Amino acid sequence: MAQNDTAAPSTQTSYAPSTAFAEQANATAALYDEAEADRLAFWAEQANRLAWETPFTEVLDWSEAPVAKWFADGKLNVAYNCVDRHVEAGNGDRVAIHWVGEPVDHHRTITYAELKDEVSKAANALTDLGLVAGDRVAIYMPMVPEAIVAMLACARLGVLHSVVFAGFSASALKARIADAEAKLVITTDGQYRRGKAASLKDAVDEAVEGDGGQSIQHVLVVKRTGIDVGWTKGRDLWWHDVVDAASTEHTPKAFDAEHPLFLLYTSGTTGKPKGIMHTTGGYLTQSSYTHFNVFDVKPETDVYWCTADIGWVTGHTYIVYGPLSNGVTQVVYEGTPTSPTEHRHFEIIEKYGVTIYYTAPTLVRTFMKLGRQIAAEHDLSSLRLLGSVGEPINPEAWRWYRTVFGADQTPIVDTWWQTETGSIMISPLPGVTATKPGSAMTPLPGISAVIVDDDGNRLEPGTDHGEQVSGYLVLDKPWPSMLRGIWGDPERFKETYWSRFAEQGWYFAGDGARYGSDGEIWVLGRIDDVMNISGHRISTAEVESALVGHSGVAEAAVVGATDEQTGQAICAFVILKASAQGGAENMVEELRAEVAKEISPIAKPREIHVVPELPKTRSGKIMRRLLRDVAEGRELGDTSTLVDPSVFEAIRAGK
Ligand code: WT7
Repeated sequence: MAQNDTAAPSTQTSYAPSTAFAEQANATAALYDEAEADRLAFWAEQANRLAWETPFTEVLDWSEAPVAKWFADGKLNVAYNCVDRHVEAGNGDRVAIHWVGEPVDHHRTITYAELKDEVSKAANALTDLGLVAGDRVAIYMPMVPEAIVAMLACARLGVLHSVVFAGFSASALKARIADAEAKLVITTDGQYRRGKAASLKDAVDEAVEGDGGQSIQHVLVVKRTGIDVGWTKGRDLWWHDVVDAASTEHTPKAFDAEHPLFLLYTSGTTGKPKGIMHTTGGYLTQSSYTHFNVFDVKPETDVYWCTADIGWVTGHTYIVYGPLSNGVTQVVYEGTPTSPTEHRHFEIIEKYGVTIYYTAPTLVRTFMKLGRQIAAEHDLSSLRLLGSVGEPINPEAWRWYRTVFGADQTPIVDTWWQTETGSIMISPLPGVTATKPGSAMTPLPGISAVIVDDDGNRLEPGTDHGEQVSGYLVLDKPWPSMLRGIWGDPERFKETYWSRFAEQGWYFAGDGARYGSDGEIWVLGRIDDVMNISGHRISTAEVESALVGHSGVAEAAVVGATDEQTGQAICAFVILKASAQGGAENMVEELRAEVAKEISPIAKPREIHVVPELPKTRSGKIMRRLLRDVAEGRELGDTSTLVDPSVFEAIRAGK
């Protein structure tokens, strides 16, 4: 893979932090001891890093498990904690956001004092539009500062935001608006992608018109690109008319710790995405604590950069709520990593003196493929800590990341967590942990996670080379930023996460994992019907339903197959209707376009095979395991439960 990488492959298996790093680190080994000694007292202490208008007296109420209440009688305002309190502390002139636009000459610097004004104006504007605590607002925007302002304005008012990734299609947006019965959509006229402006407002129009869009009263539009937009009088409003005119005076009201903060839709094992619900006090506590200790941030000096999009949970927790609650300076980048050239990320690191860089393994592999000479042309010496998230990072990419980005000096934190966990759960502490490339290591102080077998027995430590048995990754104790439910569907919440180990009362994460020789955790990936494409979660069922939505398709089965670049890639097997036959070639392209339209271009299958039949068990269940074998070119596993084992000859012939 790394054809440009001429260094001899390293065999080093464990990387301890340097003494210099350890000496200055926010977190020491004492953090584990404190949490171990009294878990709830530990979390109370972390919660008290925040400003509470009404202090809490109770830490955890687990009596209504699996719905937890953390710090329930306390009250606080999230936006006050992320913005106002830094200004009150005298840090209003500190840069909150160095915003770097996609076109090369676009950038903005926003201080905490300016952010406070912007958030206050937006909160006043939303109030004027009739929004009150408990309402839902959909945010469908590229990575512009107004997106962050919009999220914070919602949080300030106790209004739930539901951020929908701007790469999602109109129909995906519609489904999310309808499920949450959102009253307002905040969007932009268009977005830049590789230097070209493309409409975003068109998709909003399509999403809010007709069935499913009835709840929407207004569409608030930030002018980003200046391209033409359709306009519905009375419904559509320009941000610059409504927000810019509003007052910068706004007094935040404190909300109950368990007041909902946001919904974030994520793929499950069915075609219908789940609205994961997070609440106020516990979410902010753990987001802020993990950001401070895992990324070792020094608000006075660090320049932090998380390359995620706010459309995903990483953007919520480690661009908005974690960094801002800690009052750090960060870079927010609007565009694609390799546009206009492959140098873009390195130029940004160099220009802004980025000290902490948090990205996904798929991007590390992209850079690896482009070769280390690109990085070598830039001064990356400001970097002192690197992070990884979204999927297991292969040891080769881990070492390359450390060598090329980190001069073989910087610690790497490989952070395991999920939309549902709200913030990081398993990760090294950079000044404490001797890390093994490819392992997220151990649960953070205050967090408990175990790997168990089918019956819930804890597995024994294994080897570092993977021969040992794997099991289920479970979270056996509640944590502050845990999801509180699935919007409108308490049954699905229980069924999805709490039924596998109902007897023990454990949360099942959906991941397989094994222990290494020192008891550290090696996450192996999803074991349910959820795929991980470049760190994006997409369910097989969603893609299947998009495919069968096409009039020419009779049946479809989708599996994730290993892919060097993207971790997994989507492989689809379809049976065409008789009426669609004769044009299999054209159909494949048409179907890929259909999936992009129904879900998002990121969900486009890498390959679609037109087959005469699908392998099924006697009960009619599609044998995905076997399709994965086919997609990955392996010998077939056990086919004895198939109705008709010969279908594979036909499938292989068609492949
Ligand atoms: C799934 C959660 C966490 C924010 C981004 C994705 C996989 C995530 C790691 C990691 C191995 C990882 C898991 C998890 N995953 N981080 N460091 N090592 N696997 O959030 O869309 O909710 O996906 O991503 O499979 O269950 P998400």
